[in-house]
Amino acid sequence: MAVLLSPITFLIFCLVIYTAAKQLNQRPNIVFILTDDQDVELGSMKPMVKAKKLIGDAGVIFKNMFVTSPLCCPSRSSILTGSYVHNHGAVNNSISGNCSSAAWQASSEMRTFATYLKKQHYRTFFAGKYLNQYGKKEAGGVGHVPPGWNTWMGLVGNSVYYNYTLSVDGKSEIHGDNYNVDYLTDVIARRAEAFLKHQHPHKPFFMMLSTPACHAPFTPAPQYSKSFSNVSAPRTGSFNYFGKDKHWLVRQAKHPLGDTSLKYIDSTHRNRWRTLLSVDDLVELVMTRLDKHSLLSNTYVVFTSDNGFHLGQMSLPNDKRQLYEFDVRVPLMVTGPRVTPGQVREEIILNIDLAPTFLEMAGLSVGAMTTSMDGRSFLSLLGNSTWVDREWREDFLVEHKGEYKDINAGCPQLDHQQVANCFPDCVCEDSFNNTYTCVRTLSKTCNLMYCEFADHEGFVEVYDLNKDPHQLKNIAKTISPQILVAMNKRLVKLSVCSGDTCRATAEPWQHWVTFGVRTERLYGRTGML
Ligand SMILES: *[C@@H]1O[C@H](CO)[C@@H](O)[C@H](O)[C@H]1NC(C)=O
Ligand SMILES: *[C@@H]1O[C@H](CO)[C@@H](O)[C@H](O)[C@H]1NC(C)=O
Ligand SMILES: *[C@@H]1O[C@H](CO)[C@@H](O)[C@H](O)[C@H]1NC(C)=O
Ligand SMILES: *[C@@H]1O[C@H](CO)[C@@H](O)[C@H](O)[C@H]1NC(C)=O
Ligand SMILES: *[C@@H]1O[C@H](CO)[C@@H](O)[C@H](O)[C@H]1NC(C)=O
Ligand SMILES: *[C@@H]1O[C@H](CO)[C@@H](O)[C@H](O)[C@H]1NC(C)=O
Repeated sequence: MAVLLSPITFLIFCLVIYTAAKQLNQRPNIVFILTDDQDVELGSMKPMVKAKKLIGDAGVIFKNMFVTSPLCCPSRSSILTGSYVHNHGAVNNSISGNCSSAAWQASSEMRTFATYLKKQHYRTFFAGKYLNQYGKKEAGGVGHVPPGWNTWMGLVGNSVYYNYTLSVDGKSEIHGDNYNVDYLTDVIARRAEAFLKHQHPHKPFFMMLSTPACHAPFTPAPQYSKSFSNVSAPRTGSFNYFGKDKHWLVRQAKHPLGDTSLKYIDSTHRNRWRTLLSVDDLVELVMTRLDKHSLLSNTYVVFTSDNGFHLGQMSLPNDKRQLYEFDVRVPLMVTGPRVTPGQVREEIILNIDLAPTFLEMAGLSVGAMTTSMDGRSFLSLLGNSTWVDREWREDFLVEHKGEYKDINAGCPQLDHQQVANCFPDCVCEDSFNNTYTCVRTLSKTCNLMYCEFADHEGFVEVYDLNKDPHQLKNIAKTISPQILVAMNKRLVKLSVCSGDTCRATAEPWQHWVTFGVRTERLYGRTGML
């Protein structure tokens, strides 16, 4: 027997279906642009005039964006999983350190934001550098397409601009060095353009564009190879500074920087900026295509980098991996629906916050997936400039495990000392005892970096960044022992945190209020620092 609905019931029924469908259809798209080794401290946003206008000025610029590990693979693994290094297990850039290892693929990689988005019927698209060891034979080869991605175009290995292999949905695509068809930043842009052409406003997508710029080998596009020819690397406060009170690796730097280093630094700086001009073009292309296909008004665009960079700071010619601001601070700009334009925000945002933020943007804020992550969504901060979340974090953890692969990298005086990354004038940029954990505190009363090294000296570095923004003077030996104890306690706690305990504001919040008052008194009146 047929069930007959009254016309009214039928109308209501249709309306309910229509509204539900409409809500589902209106889930926003997300475009995530991730650059490689792009600092803020050395001014790397300056060449990106179009990106700043189209994303930053049209949305929010976050002034205090940090990575929780200043090295590509650990940081990228944090971005993908929303977890600190001690929870996702990728400690360095090697397979043995879980960079794209089989163990990582079987555990953390099953829980990236992409896997959750795909489950919710987002169309997911990836193009560019993934994890440093991706696509290598020992990492499953190009046939390994990480779960969560519908369309996959992953670079095999580390950033390069020419002569590379891509895994295109599990099949290798080999590229040479013809600018018109092979320059990787442009290839990513063109594939993004082609993908956008096939999207329509009622089916949400997530697109991640991960550029080789501005990582080594810093190869500019031909039309930009002469740009910025009168620009030099910035002589920041710690440029060519000898950190005699710092950990072993910094103390072994050559000082003053030699001529070869200085020349290298200036030329590298120019080439980094030149490679970013192609990223600027990519951003413009993506934004105009979003507009052309009527997708712009319902698309979040998030722009950031995996870690910072130094060029001559602390007399270290060229690298990341240090605890200082130049290596842990990165740009962050966000625009999109319900984002109030023209905001500049001060809250601490971390690389581990990106995954939970993407999920909340997609309407998946609740449930096991985000609570098991260590970061927290910053979506609520995008809406308006007056909104202040009083429970927002005031500190976070930075973790780095030193690498020591290139023992014979050409540093005769340091042979057998387990160092790595020997750069111009033979200054080494990493060593196995460049292994540290830090708490970075940034609040109204406190602007501190506290670090403990796992080296033979049990070295400690502390900086009061309000007084010493360039981290020249290590105050570990002069600061009040009470503060050292409090910082050590907090460090131990964060080093083993997981999920809620990494976000916790309750007990530590109390602790920090008291601590804030105490440090203000100590710092202010007795001038102990
Ligand atoms: C690599 O990841 C696996 C699985 O998470 C973990 O058991 C192992 O300890 C990790 N290795 C390192 C070197 O952290
Ligand atoms: C690309 O590889 C070819 C063949 O090995 C080589 O001649 C060329 O110099 C390489 N190009 C770049 C930009 O490295
Ligand atoms: C570089 O050259 C441009 C154009 O000639 C000029 O506007 C700019 O001031 C110069 N910058 C420096 C640092 O000399
Ligand atoms: C700002 O955003 C917050 C969080 O989304 C909201 O609670 C608050 O009402 C908003 N204020 C204004 C003025 O829109
Ligand atoms: C990376 O970490 C693993 C595990 O701790 C270690 O065995 C390996 O030597 C490290 N790689 C480098 C280059 O230091
Ligand atoms: C760091 O490692 C090097 C190389 O093994 C060693 O010579 C040096 O004593 C170590 N320094 C500290 C402080 O552990």
